[in-house]
Amino acid sequence: MNNTVPAHIAMIMDGNGRWAKERNLKRTAGHSAGAEVVRKITIHCGNIGVKYLTLYAFSTENWQRPKLEVEFLMKLLEKYLKQELPVYLENGIKLKTIGDISRFSKSLQKTIKETEDKTAHGTKLTQVLALNYGSKDEIVRAVKRLNSKNLEVSEENIEENLDTAGMPNVDILIRTSGEVRLSNYLLWQNAYAEMFFTNTYWPDFNENELDDIISDFNNRERRFGGI
Ligand code: FPP
Repeated sequence: MNNTVPAHIAMIMDGNGRWAKERNLKRTAGHSAGAEVVRKITIHCGNIGVKYLTLYAFSTENWQRPKLEVEFLMKLLEKYLKQELPVYLENGIKLKTIGDISRFSKSLQKTIKETEDKTAHGTKLTQVLALNYGSKDEIVRAVKRLNSKNLEVSEENIEENLDTAGMPNVDILIRTSGEVRLSNYLLWQNAYAEMFFTNTYWPDFNENELDDIISDFNNRERRFGGI
């Protein structure tokens, strides 16, 4: 067994709605509880030496949810970014987003940009929020960039034109809530990720469970197609 700290962990934070339903609460209460877990897990990842934590906060498909839930998620995100700024700064966390945020309100776009600018010097961990993100959409946008720059379509050029350009590929992918699928998340970047699916709903996920997953990861043999 080795003791490698994964450079890049990606998470699909699923189960907020079911967590709330089990408690006779509104789905939105599950999202609020989920935001607290985002904070705890982000700080923990920074403390143990993870360099990139990518969180699926809003997918290109999530627009299909009821209007009120979409509005709630947008407001929660804006509130979270504003209130978390001191936490980002105290913990050396840099914010980056992937996805096409041009569909968000001007005010949310401004908050995202300001938070990215103010945290740009964070060196411990980059928290990457996937916002209006879909992997197929990202790959199409990358290929369009290649065309507009007259660049050859190669693996290297695609990689350098994805929203995740400059980031390492995913080492560990975690999905909570018992669902076992990728849901259009980082299809390219997960090519050699070790995948973990836990029944825990996202609002109940915690640092100990993450540590256990990292221990399991260190017991797996990654061969990257070799022998
Ligand atoms: C999936 O649970 C969760 C989401 C679509 C949103 C994720 C948002 C958060 C964790 C909170 C806010 C995030 C930040 C970064 C502040 P679901 O609603 O699909 O749950 P269900 O499958 O049980 O219905």
